[in-house]
Amino acid sequence: GVSWKLADHPKLPKGKTVAVVVLDGWGEAKPNEYNCIATAETPCMDSLKKGAPELWRLVRAHGTAVGLPTEDDMGNSEVGHNALGAGRIFAQGAKLVDIALATGKFFEGEGFNYIKESFANGTLHLIGLLSDGGVHSRLDQLQLLLKGVGERGVKRVRVHILTDGRDVLDGSSVEFVETLENDLAKLQEKGIDAKIASGGGRMNVSMDRYENDWNVVKRGWDAQVLGEAPYKFTNALEAVKKLRAEPKANDQYLPPFVIVDESGKPVGPIVDGDAVVTFNFRADRMVMIAKSLEYENFDKFDRVRVPKIRYAGMLEYDGELKLPSHYLVSPPEIDRTSGEYLVKNGIRTFACSETVKFGHVTFFWNGNRSGYFNAELEKYVEIPSDSGITFNEKPNMKALQIAEKARDAILSRNFDQVRVNLPNGDMVGHTGDIEATVVACKAADEAVKMILDAIEQVGGIYVVTADHGNAEDMVKRDKSGKPLLKDGKVQILTSHTLEPVPIAIGGPGLSSGVRFRNDVPSGGLANVAATVINLHGFEAPSDYEQTLIEVVDK
Ligand code: 3PG
Ligand code: CO
Repeated sequence: GVSWKLADHPKLPKGKTVAVVVLDGWGEAKPNEYNCIATAETPCMDSLKKGAPELWRLVRAHGTAVGLPTEDDMGNSEVGHNALGAGRIFAQGAKLVDIALATGKFFEGEGFNYIKESFANGTLHLIGLLSDGGVHSRLDQLQLLLKGVGERGVKRVRVHILTDGRDVLDGSSVEFVETLENDLAKLQEKGIDAKIASGGGRMNVSMDRYENDWNVVKRGWDAQVLGEAPYKFTNALEAVKKLRAEPKANDQYLPPFVIVDESGKPVGPIVDGDAVVTFNFRADRMVMIAKSLEYENFDKFDRVRVPKIRYAGMLEYDGELKLPSHYLVSPPEIDRTSGEYLVKNGIRTFACSETVKFGHVTFFWNGNRSGYFNAELEKYVEIPSDSGITFNEKPNMKALQIAEKARDAILSRNFDQVRVNLPNGDMVGHTGDIEATVVACKAADEAVKMILDAIEQVGGIYVVTADHGNAEDMVKRDKSGKPLLKDGKVQILTSHTLEPVPIAIGGPGLSSGVRFRNDVPSGGLANVAATVINLHGFEAPSDYEQTLIEVVDK
């Protein structure tokens, strides 16, 4: 069994309220016109940076530092919060799928054998995000999956595509569809009936998260399962091109469409006897669709027809719910997270964000595990997000409300750790709207200020950091760092970045003599957990990534 008892820290006291603030999508980069954080008025974050050089630093938030395959992989909220909460670096879904495909284990596991049963008499449906973003899915993995099933007896394949434009450039959907069509043509040459059957933009169709809006999943269900959508095309490339040509259209929000044959019949609704794979490895935006495909009792929307299928996820998406029950690759085993340790050592924990990021500071923080460790010691508060809008319309989002909840939790003295995620930099950054993102960054800064003021009042400690970059660079750049042009215009970057993120600690409760060590220069998000555990007065578990702080005698 695990020994949960944490040793006392030799120098740091217990009993201080610790606020842990995660600014989503808040990286550090040189000021310029595409750096919305630098452009925005952010007096609070500025003062942390300028105030105490020994209490502010940068940490790595992308690539191998957070368990991603390569240093070219930008950070994201899943791997960022996993690392922040778990204090260790786990090979993440993207990498685990790569390994399983490279070794061939992918096609030998329980999950694959399960779906393979349907290959002789049914259709294999593949549903997922079509891009090379590497955040939720990757095109090359889909390609290997298609090739692999082609070599293993599949007779009929239907791909239900979700266009991206959020982890990759807007407009890139067209190329990805072309690439996929080529791959499907290769299968057709081998006598396999392989086609795109439906599609839609990821933010509009299928990929909602944390139950923000079930209509999104319903639109996906209608197109993928029922073969019903407001738009019908005989060809997916034409569908994407035409729908993109509508005013204000973009890849993220394309409406749902189905592909029909010459007689107008949908080419690939999901029916009894079929197999379905959701090929995204990342969990948050697959949990809801997995529930709709798998649960017998389901009341979130009327499914109309529930086909008897063999369904497997690329990964297991929720370790607590064991969802889905079949999957192709085992997820990272993120165990013994800092949240679990702290609760088991009596730390009363409060966590809060608005819906669209709520699971980030709970589910991801706790190693992709839903629910409480100990309901008596923990309280998780979700502020409902606005739904049905893009966040550039309301860039303040719920930052103020989140900060108020955190402030009240701090002032109540009922909690030892108060943890929040402030979504603005990220969610508005993803819209590519620079002006709105500047407003968003200001709102996040004001929220930080409110939380720090509360910490001041109770004599507590704050840790302010971020999960990955986004708002600090809103333009696609070439290798030398110059903005890339397309048709004479700069290409707006809606995605995350490779930048490091700041971490600042302080507050009246911080023991004098605490400062950042200078012997962890390549520290990353995984080093934050040990740091926070120390600030609660404990030594971190010995296998955690080392703490970022030391205590010098003064
Ligand atoms: C999303 O799911 O919104 C993006 O693909 C990634 O954003 P996040 O990692 O900040 O949630
Ligand atoms: Co993001």
